[in-house]
Amino acid sequence: MEIFVDSADPEEIIRWTTCGIADGVTTNPSVMLKDKAYDLEDGSKAIARWIHPRPLSVEVTTNDLDEMLDQSRRFASWAPNIVIKIPQENQFGVPCYGIMNQLEKEGIRVNATVAMSFGQVMLSAKAGASYISIFWGRVGDEGGNPSQVISDSVKWLEHWKYKSRVVVGSIRSVADVLQAATAGAHIVTIPPQFIAKMADHKYTRATVAQFMVDAQKALEKMTLAAR
Ligand code: E4P
Repeated sequence: MEIFVDSADPEEIIRWTTCGIADGVTTNPSVMLKDKAYDLEDGSKAIARWIHPRPLSVEVTTNDLDEMLDQSRRFASWAPNIVIKIPQENQFGVPCYGIMNQLEKEGIRVNATVAMSFGQVMLSAKAGASYISIFWGRVGDEGGNPSQVISDSVKWLEHWKYKSRVVVGSIRSVADVLQAATAGAHIVTIPPQFIAKMADHKYTRATVAQFMVDAQKALEKMTLAAR
């Protein structure tokens, strides 16, 4: 399973990429705003450069399908490792699968985003999306079972040998990460604060503290013995 960082914060992206944990980065307009990446072009180019050749997902910012296509081509021209996030449908319910299909035909990788159901996953795969982002937290908000959506989707994609890989986003706790992994996610995209939380355990810290005390004691005994 791969781990992506769901962030536009340079420090966190570099931190988790340089230690070999992060296999890619995802953003969306809300993430860019939260992390103060107000200039989409400059911000995306910088992240793409730091993490190259790992993929960076950048999302379109329009409801208009023609504009979506133009934007996607422009965003993709910024760096070779940029993947374009296209929603399942625009905010007025117009499906965006034709855009996904066109971009993939042009060699531009697509992350079919804001997926909430197995049905949407099927359509995104048929349209040729390289990645399909299922929103764990938001599926749960509506009373859905995100674990079931993920395991059904992954089984179906693998059975029919689609190239699409499931990215689980909308992660709100470490438990979400672990359950998404158990459900068979190909990739989980994690906000950096939860990666840090995954690394930490109070008993690990206490055990390391005990080792430090004993190492000090052993050192003192060695010094005495050497006299
Ligand atoms: C990732 O690809 C998604 O855009 C992101 O995780 C969505 O998270 P949210 O539901 O917290 O907005």
